[in-house]
Amino acid sequence: MKYEICKVADIPETGSLVAPFFGREVHVWRSGERIRAAANACLHFGGPLNCKDGTLVCQWHGARFDMESGERLEGPAPKGSRLMFLPTRVEDGALNYVWGE
Ligand code: FES
Repeated sequence: MKYEICKVADIPETGSLVAPFFGREVHVWRSGERIRAAANACLHFGGPLNCKDGTLVCQWHGARFDMESGERLEGPAPKGSRLMFLPTRVEDGALNYVWGE
């Protein structure tokens, strides 16, 4: 399965792009040479995340996650929890979600 998330050219150099994803949302950002995509859902109660100062911060209760490793940095999300990264591949100038290939 392959599903286009966004065009690579639309991903900002800093911060993140929020793209629709099967009725939900994903954050997409540049991490060095890599492009990362993670569900816009906190690991506490699923709250939406804001990109702030190089981290993703939950709008509901303030859990903060590292954008490089995905690890929870602080807040009420479980210790050791990580952002839900999506498997992706860049093809023809687009970032695609890929599954089962
Ligand atoms: S839902 Fe994110 S910190 Fe509570």
